[in-house]
Amino acid sequence: MNQHGRLCLLPNFCKGGTHSGAEQDWLPPGFPRSWRVPVIDYLFSVAPVRKAIWRLWYPFLTRRLRGDGVLFLNYAFEEVPPMNLPLTSGDEPNRACIQLYHHVATQAPLAGKNILEVSCGHGGGASYLTRTLQPKSYTGLDLNPTGISFCRERHKLSGLEFVHGDAGNLPFGPERFDAVINVEASHCYPDFPRFLGEVARVLRPGGHFLYADFRFRERWDEWDAALAAAPLKLQHTRNINAEVRRGMEQNSARSEALIARHLPKFLHGLGRDFAGTRGSRIYNALADGELSYRSYCFVKPGVNAAAGAP
Ligand SMILES: C[S@@+](CC[C@H](N)C(=O)[O-])C[C@H]1O[C@@H](n2cnc3c(N)ncnc32)[C@H](O)[C@@H]1O
Repeated sequence: MNQHGRLCLLPNFCKGGTHSGAEQDWLPPGFPRSWRVPVIDYLFSVAPVRKAIWRLWYPFLTRRLRGDGVLFLNYAFEEVPPMNLPLTSGDEPNRACIQLYHHVATQAPLAGKNILEVSCGHGGGASYLTRTLQPKSYTGLDLNPTGISFCRERHKLSGLEFVHGDAGNLPFGPERFDAVINVEASHCYPDFPRFLGEVARVLRPGGHFLYADFRFRERWDEWDAALAAAPLKLQHTRNINAEVRRGMEQNSARSEALIARHLPKFLHGLGRDFAGTRGSRIYNALADGELSYRSYCFVKPGVNAAAGAP
């Protein structure tokens, strides 16, 4: 995993390191070792191919996991002392993933606002925020059509709707939303600056972009440059490596059980990295600082002081 997307299929190759047998245990048997590394890494380096791989991966995951009611696909978040958010018994199993959403979304007031979430996944965050923060409307969008169908069946709430769409081509007119939320998804996008342009286009002046994601070290400069060039003003940012790692620890046993139940054996190594289980490469990279997980709050400039804007 790393410079090419959320989960590089060949982690150490992408980082310029060496592969151990254990790291390759997900690879299909019979695929010649001498070419599987360069071939798959090359495929991940081509943005449209990378997008096509995510297009296949997430619907596959939804089909595998929907029977278990998996509502979140993020690495989660926990503080010290524990956040202890008051949750319903239905939300309790998803506490650590909910806390990531809570951390990101409460960077700006959302009550009575029109909210767009880009890459809503299985809709757990959309449902939780609609129930707890009382927005006027909440629209969840994702590239995964199977996930969007799941969301429509699972989360029936007044003011909440789900739309199939692409982060790089949002199907909404200009200045339509008061806030855009984006949690742990932008590493999948083939054109991150284009996504930022789309966010700025659909936000009203004074609207907020509430964002969290990660990148490996070799992509930090590119990430920073894209964010600095976006037509959005940074209000604050925070490195949340420690909090996300604690969240992974809370979810680790559950994730291991899901992997064992739903993925074929050759995909278990991949599943562990994807889920960030204790001891996985992602978990270790958070600890040793090779990966940076950050949250951000941006505002779209352009409202005059009389209107109470930034
Ligand atoms: C790691 S999951 C996070 C989902 C959700 N935000 C959560 O925290 O549970 C990444 C999500 O990004 C979505 N995604 C990937 N590429 C996308 C694109 N180009 N446009 C919209 N969504 C995309 C995937 O389908 C997936 O649901």
